[in-house]
Amino acid sequence: MGENIIQRFAEAGHQIHPDAVAMIQKHEGSVEALVQDILTSLDDSVLVITQEHVRNVLRQTTGVRVLSDITDESTCVGDYDEFVLYFRDRYAKLSEMIRGRVSARPIESLNKVQGEITIIGMVSDIRNTSNGHKLIELEDPTGMFPALLPKDKGLLGVSNRIILDEVIGVTGNLTNDGRLLIASNVMWPDIPVRNEPRRASEQVCAVLTSDLHVGSKTFLEDAWSRFTKWLNGDLGDDDQRLLAEKVKYMVIAGDLVDGIGVYPDQEKELLISDIYEQYQRAAEYLEEVPPRIKIIIAPGNHDAVRQAEPQPALPKKITAMFERLNVTFVGNPSLIELSGIRALIYHGRSLDDFVATLPGLSYKEPERAMVEMLRRRHLSPIYGERVSIAPEKRDHFVIDSVPDVLHCGHVHTMGLSKYRGVTLVNSSTWQAQTEFQKRINLEPVPAHVPVIDLSTMESSILKFA
Ligand SMILES: [Fe+2]
Repeated sequence: MGENIIQRFAEAGHQIHPDAVAMIQKHEGSVEALVQDILTSLDDSVLVITQEHVRNVLRQTTGVRVLSDITDESTCVGDYDEFVLYFRDRYAKLSEMIRGRVSARPIESLNKVQGEITIIGMVSDIRNTSNGHKLIELEDPTGMFPALLPKDKGLLGVSNRIILDEVIGVTGNLTNDGRLLIASNVMWPDIPVRNEPRRASEQVCAVLTSDLHVGSKTFLEDAWSRFTKWLNGDLGDDDQRLLAEKVKYMVIAGDLVDGIGVYPDQEKELLISDIYEQYQRAAEYLEEVPPRIKIIIAPGNHDAVRQAEPQPALPKKITAMFERLNVTFVGNPSLIELSGIRALIYHGRSLDDFVATLPGLSYKEPERAMVEMLRRRHLSPIYGERVSIAPEKRDHFVIDSVPDVLHCGHVHTMGLSKYRGVTLVNSSTWQAQTEFQKRINLEPVPAHVPVIDLSTMESSILKFA
């Protein structure tokens, strides 16, 4: 075993001190993953690996780290200039991802060029022509240009998936007069095909949940208490207890409480009509969670923060109620690291836009809409519909670094799937159907909890309904 470790480092050009080898051997989680983490942390100048190197990696890969979050960073006042900066940042980041795979021309340089060319642009208009083709307008910092997606070139399935304000690459040939691009291919920024998720070097699990809606008459108190009993090892067989023991994190992706005045006549469906009392009660429910579990809470559209996204973390007046608990409050969206695994948390308001815009998507399979986020490397591309976007200088919805987990809620259904190595979770709800949901025909799938083993990235669904 020790020789294997020495060999692994020798192959990478490093020697290792026997004390450091002993430290790695004593590690309780996956030794292979730890060796991998140490190797990636080193630069070529390190000749002999010491205990200090191992300790640094262990420190970094255990516990919670917040990598990116709008909280305390918001600069926006909503000026026109800010929208310009916001969209410029979106274009710069997303076009760069496509440019890594194809060489493209700025729009101003197009001039009756012969042969195949690619433009990378933000989609500013989409039209159907009278003969069934799609005509789109692409915009880059140098100009605007129309592209035609002919219905008979195998692009029909593709052209139906193009949405406004997203950034795509379009390849094709210019017409003879040089004024229109006839498309033959469309590219999205997307996740690299060979993307491999990280794996935690310790054997720990995370439970992902959202949409508790504490304060609502239909909050499922009994189901919640079965869940916390399970977490405490008081429910289920030995295997279940063993799994529960491994849970080190609980992530809540928004809508901790039902809020007030969120939709018409909501007060008729509230058990607790004071917003602070709702949070007080939520803190009591979270007290049932064993203290060894680190809780991470992001807000949603029912929570008491600004509705425009990105949303900052809950305010001090509310977080103070959770002081006795092991909670980290983050914004929406935010990128966090749990034992070295990157999880992108987004409540999921834009799922409404995706389902309304893209053919074939439904609330029953929210994970399919989440694939569309990854494909576009953007959590909320459509501007001016259901999501009210605050124009920050940076587009916080761009999926810059590829996460290992994308966690949404909002739609109150359950989704679990994988796309190019990224685990996609939509984490159900703890609220049964409300009168309002009955009217809009929303059928919730409550009290389902996805649990992810962070050392293998395998996941399963626990049911407490
Ligand atoms: Fe919700």
